[in-house]
Amino acid sequence: MHQTVYNIVSVTDAGLVMSTYINPTNARPIAVFDSGVGGISVLKHIHRLLPNEHLLYVADSIHAPYGNKSATEIQARCFAIAEFLIAKDAKALVVACNTATAAAIDQMRTKYRLPIIGMEPAIKPAAAASRSGIIGVLATTGTLQSAQFAALLESYGRNVKVVTQACVGLVECVERGELSHDSTRALVKHYCQPLLDEGADSIVLGCTHYPFLKPLIQEAVGDGVVLIDTGAAVANQLKSRLFEQGLLAASNQMASVNFWSNSVSANPEKVITQLWDESVKVANF
Ligand code: DGL
Repeated sequence: MHQTVYNIVSVTDAGLVMSTYINPTNARPIAVFDSGVGGISVLKHIHRLLPNEHLLYVADSIHAPYGNKSATEIQARCFAIAEFLIAKDAKALVVACNTATAAAIDQMRTKYRLPIIGMEPAIKPAAAASRSGIIGVLATTGTLQSAQFAALLESYGRNVKVVTQACVGLVECVERGELSHDSTRALVKHYCQPLLDEGADSIVLGCTHYPFLKPLIQEAVGDGVVLIDTGAAVANQLKSRLFEQGLLAASNQMASVNFWSNSVSANPEKVITQLWDESVKVANF
């Protein structure tokens, strides 16, 4: 692949000549999106692993949840967001949403040429972590009903019993920033109980909103149950892809993180600041 490399030469106060190679392709941002704010759980892993990368994040909150939408509707949303982010010069796209990955990643990979990384419920690590041979999966209806999920079970769920639970309403709790409210705690307990009743000792957080509810989920299932989240694995996969394609940013790049949201019901700046653990500005999308 041909890339233009600029050699920037500057003179420091001490009179030293500094030479820095800047590859404009590599300085382009990584774009991350989700049906809402859940993908920020993945963005955090990416920012930790790749602190020199410029990051763009789109929360499509007005259309959340995706979990009860048709694959065609979800694909249309993914295309609209991808066009927005590609116009912002994204060098890679992370679909930080299990539901959107299941419904649209193949179509996106056909349509766009940049690297596209998706999410899928971590059945394989959960099966490896289980002693009882029974694993639970908390996810959206869309993810659990998808062909991708069926294929995952076929590949990695053969030697374990897999108990699934669709968690209608949990995405909305996170969208409202209600991470420790009594109503959220009650809903979490309600969805975890059937998995406990079946004897699950490792539980997959199959939706990127759920890591924000980890304290409540762990409280509901007890310390003996392992919770498995895919965010770190996705960040590692992204890093490998960028490395393979020679797209990693220079190690001295000062990174920026920019957020967009189309939320109308919640105060997006307040909710995103709460989830990102740092005060942020959020632009309209
Ligand atoms: N964060 C999305 C996921 O990982 C939530 C999907 C939805 O909006 O229903 O599936």
